[in-house]
Amino acid sequence: MSGSFYITTAIDYANGAPHLGHAYEKVLADVLARHARMTGRKVHFLTGLDEHGQKVQQTAQQRGVSPQALVDEVAVGFKSMLVGLDISNDDYIRTTEPRHTKVVQDFLSRLYAEGLIFKDTKSGWYSVRQEQFLSDKDRDENGEWPEIYGEVTQTSEENYYFRISKFQSWLVDHIRSNPDFILPRFRQNQVLEFLKEPMNDLCISRPKSRLTWGVELPFDPGFVTYVWFDALTNYYSAVADKDLWPADLHVIGKDILSPPHAVYWPCMLKALGIEPPRRLLVHGWWTIDKKKASKSSGNATDSLAYVQSHGTDAFRYYLSREMVVGQDADFSDAGFNGRYKADLGNSLGNLVNRLLNMVGRNCSGTVPAAVADEDPERSVRALWTETRKAYDEAFAEHQVSRALEGLWTFINALNAYIETRAPWKLAKSADPADRARLDSCLAHVSEGLRLVGTALLPVMPGTARTMLEHIGQPVPADYSAFDWSAAGSGVKVAEKCILFPQVDTPPAPPA
Ligand code: MSP
Repeated sequence: MSGSFYITTAIDYANGAPHLGHAYEKVLADVLARHARMTGRKVHFLTGLDEHGQKVQQTAQQRGVSPQALVDEVAVGFKSMLVGLDISNDDYIRTTEPRHTKVVQDFLSRLYAEGLIFKDTKSGWYSVRQEQFLSDKDRDENGEWPEIYGEVTQTSEENYYFRISKFQSWLVDHIRSNPDFILPRFRQNQVLEFLKEPMNDLCISRPKSRLTWGVELPFDPGFVTYVWFDALTNYYSAVADKDLWPADLHVIGKDILSPPHAVYWPCMLKALGIEPPRRLLVHGWWTIDKKKASKSSGNATDSLAYVQSHGTDAFRYYLSREMVVGQDADFSDAGFNGRYKADLGNSLGNLVNRLLNMVGRNCSGTVPAAVADEDPERSVRALWTETRKAYDEAFAEHQVSRALEGLWTFINALNAYIETRAPWKLAKSADPADRARLDSCLAHVSEGLRLVGTALLPVMPGTARTMLEHIGQPVPADYSAFDWSAAGSGVKVAEKCILFPQVDTPPAPPA
């Protein structure tokens, strides 16, 4: 496959520290980006920070710093999370950068000039605490305003509105005629359901009297633009000087699909005469020990400690393997440690060491050629053909956990193949046929591990690299040698390789 592949993540709110949800989304997008690079596509991978809005303004005020100083500090934390997770992004956009605000203002001016943005006065119930207008839908079952809204008063306010309703029927057609626009497919229904009701025009401003920390409307300095209009534009502003639009894939969480990404964003672009993004990939939410992962409870931040205690790649593996893209998943200490020990240590790590030991002991460290070819060898090779096909298909649908599941079936089959062949017995036999079987066994395990190492590069880049080096293989840049071959033979392997050391201490609790 060739051509470019422009992939993005949501840009994280700059009003708190990075947590598991942020980490997961970057890892998922990174795995897909690395995979796309290996298929030969020219990848541009963007992530970034959403820095404007009420919450940032409030936090800065409480801490007695300027909002800019606050987001500068927060950006350092988010960027260092990316480094810790080995994220291979090509660009990082912050919504306070001039390259971004310029495009937001340009979009606003164009829509205003077209008459698609207009001023209106809205009266209604207003929540002081949430700084938003409420509708009757927000009342609880007793007709009262829920606690979260604090004091609710009747008020009226002038604002600017985007005539989004004009694009509603176009959007419904677009979603219906592009069944892969929103993946997984079951998420489309939620959007189409939302679009059944006639849409209200979208309020896109806040008067400066209540929010100053935002992009000023180019046609009215008394207002700043509402945060979604600002934030969504990042995907375009970051590549405004490159020939990359439309984006191929926006990776986002389910909470921001509808309406922001599935409704506001395509309609904004349509109004501007710009193509919509090609695809939205919607992942579910992590809970931690079955509780909502959130900043306030602190649990979501602690889970990131596994990066330090067990390594970046073990963490990337757990997240990628545990969450079926689209579904929710639960992060637990037992779950993490279980997969670390079973999948990584026992299945993969031991397999590599078994190979290195046997080749060292019986063949002076060089993997022999496969001569004997019997049923066990044939089934290992046939299983690889199936595994590779399933891997390619899973990645075509961005289903990383499925690709890994298939890969571990293959890894476990290699372990079982060693048990069947019992090379330690073959080594003691005086029969030359047994020697040929022994050689074949080592050659098959070596070649199988070469393919496994290649397959793991997008998910565990560092570990896969180390593993390939220890089994005497070059680190491939692409999938051009991803079929069974004789490449596993004739190579010199290392003596031993500790990929997943035993970790006795669980991650330290936060200070
Ligand atoms: N700033 C907006 C996005 C603007 S995109 C133009 C925002 N920020 S966020 O920090 O709240 O969330 C960033 C991403 O992290 C979202 O895609 C969100 O779904 C994801 N997650 C936040 N918590 C999560 C979990 N507990 N689990 C998985 N992902 C979640 O929304």
